[in-house]
Amino acid sequence: MLKRFTVSMEEDLLDDFDRFIQDRHYKNRSEALRDLIRGRSIEKEWQADKDVMGVISLVYDHHQHKLQEKVTNLQHGFHSQIVSTTHVHMDHHNCLEVIIVHGKAGEVRGLADSLTAMRGVRNASLSMSSTGKDLH
Ligand code: NI
Repeated sequence: MLKRFTVSMEEDLLDDFDRFIQDRHYKNRSEALRDLIRGRSIEKEWQADKDVMGVISLVYDHHQHKLQEKVTNLQHGFHSQIVSTTHVHMDHHNCLEVIIVHGKAGEVRGLADSLTAMRGVRNASLSMSSTGKDLH
């Protein structure tokens, strides 16, 4: 059930908020505020080492000695946390891997950190999301 409430804030802060809403193509302030609060809930789930979902993406050079093998071996070590992996051959050298993960926040972050630190991995990121159970 939706409940209404009134928010007071400084004009400058509201201007900032309205620019944010415009930049992100929100239809109205309510939807933007709901998403900001959901974002905060997701942060809290990750901090509390809850059961979470996320997406790890990495770009690496498959010519780097044994890197492909190391990336695959590491993922086998986390088979319980990996939902799926998609591999894209971007060009002659570069591969993009997108890994959907589900597990304890600490485990998932551990996998992302290990992949990021591998020599030859050019870019890696972890997008933190939620299982949705506690997300209203
Ligand atoms: Ni490839």
